[in-house]
Amino acid sequence: MKLSSLLPLAFLGQAVNALSPAEWRKQSIYFLLTDRFGRTDNSTSATCNTGDRAYCGGSWQGVINHLDYIQGMGFTAIWITPVTGQFYESTGDGTSYHGYWQQDIYSLNSHLGDQNDLKALSAALHARGMYLMVDVVANHMGYDGAGSNVDYSVFDAFPSSSYFHSYCEISNYDDQSNVEDCWLGDTTVSLPDLNTELTSVRSIWNSWVAGLVANYSIDGLRIDTVKHVETSFWPGYNDAAGVYCVGEVFDGDPAYTCAYQNYMDGVLNYPIYYQLLSAFESTSGSISNLYNMIKSVASDCADPTLLGNFIENHDNPRFASYTSDYSLAQNAISFLFFSDGIPIVYSGQEQHYSGGADPANREATWLSGYSTTATLYKHIKTTNQIRSLIIGKDSSWATSANSPFYQDSNTIAMLKGSASGSKVLTVLSNKGASGSSYTLSLGSTGYSSGASLVELYSCTTVTVDSSGNVPVPMASGLPRVLVPSSWVSGSGLCGTAVTTGTATATAG
Ligand SMILES: *[C@@H]1O[C@H](CO)[C@@H](O)[C@H](O)[C@H]1NC(C)=O
Ligand SMILES: *[C@@H]1O[C@H](CO)[C@@H](O)[C@H](O)[C@H]1NC(C)=O
Repeated sequence: MKLSSLLPLAFLGQAVNALSPAEWRKQSIYFLLTDRFGRTDNSTSATCNTGDRAYCGGSWQGVINHLDYIQGMGFTAIWITPVTGQFYESTGDGTSYHGYWQQDIYSLNSHLGDQNDLKALSAALHARGMYLMVDVVANHMGYDGAGSNVDYSVFDAFPSSSYFHSYCEISNYDDQSNVEDCWLGDTTVSLPDLNTELTSVRSIWNSWVAGLVANYSIDGLRIDTVKHVETSFWPGYNDAAGVYCVGEVFDGDPAYTCAYQNYMDGVLNYPIYYQLLSAFESTSGSISNLYNMIKSVASDCADPTLLGNFIENHDNPRFASYTSDYSLAQNAISFLFFSDGIPIVYSGQEQHYSGGADPANREATWLSGYSTTATLYKHIKTTNQIRSLIIGKDSSWATSANSPFYQDSNTIAMLKGSASGSKVLTVLSNKGASGSSYTLSLGSTGYSSGASLVELYSCTTVTVDSSGNVPVPMASGLPRVLVPSSWVSGSGLCGTAVTTGTATATAG
């Protein structure tokens, strides 16, 4: 569904906001944990000790207050953590500040705001030509206590044990029925596991998700704990949602994880995540494992261009907890934007936050003062501008297959685009910030001798040599992205003035 971008979205009905998978390919997503991103009072000093696992005061209004900061980096969509009513007691495992302990699916988490606030967030995004993705959980509820001793009457839409699988803790991740039918959580906070095979449970979820999407004009869903629900549940749920769904299948094996794309639009790209981390977490990381994984994902996944690419989230240690090198961080970020899939950046990544495993990786963004001059904030801004330029110049770039074609022990080069002689050439390095300056001569790019390209981070123009090699100017281990020189005029990049039109190319 591609509606005319001439009509302001606000004048059109609900159906327009429901963004199709094809339209999501062109977006770029900023993921935030609502309790930790922005406060209604705009405080940049309110205490937030991650170790306490307590509510820190972020809200939907706080997100609205700081949309300039997000849009200023070039993002066209946000993904927010779950919105549903939780249990609010403090437990030995902390509180429900993250939103994954729901009890009442028809109410909202009152710590984050009310219906009007969530609707206002959706409207504020749409008024900017941006989109809203909401995190949803179908696998489980949350309970303050052991699974052996649950009072099911507290679960609003599922008020009896008959809606749930009998209690057992997941004990064997190699046994898929154990993963699907037993419970996540522990004996302090149990996560009662819905019996999603039941028609009654499926029909409650399907009408609930359709209602949620309609009531708040939601454009896409991120679905939690997908591998803990049987695959046959997902097509009906994805259809009922009527918007792009990207599922969390927390597993690095492409054969296992890609299989879920046969049941929903996309999955988070955990197979690439692990190899991207392994390639760039140090100057001796494995480029070849990443190179090979790009090929495995391309062959195992039904459509790699609909996967969600990330190097950080709230469940994995931050990239900067592995290395403080900015150049390595920049390469990992650039990979997300120029390979197959939809880039996702986790709030705080732009400030080079370095928290380790959950809960340390859930630092409050406001404590950075929302600096727009931070190195990675600026890198992401430029990277979004480059991706937006590419999408505007090559309408099939987002659906074309990324092809890695060169590797050495520190470098990977990839080509992505619809036509030979105008593909985007991305060169990434793990030499780190102390890497030397040199020229990497790359053949087999499809560019002819004499062709002129521009490297868009350094704004260097290069000419393909008489043997057909592209001389790529490498320096300080920084990422490199080259496009035909003719693309650059009017882009706002490399000191050019912006020509009207390019700025909205990714939002329509
Ligand atoms: C917070 O910041 C936003 C955006 O600048 C502003 O509109 C709002 O009035 C501020 N709120 C408070 C309580 O200062
Ligand atoms: C959506 O709104 C309708 C009408 O007010 C309401 O009955 C339904 O419970 C709402 N659904 C959700 C998930 O908010």
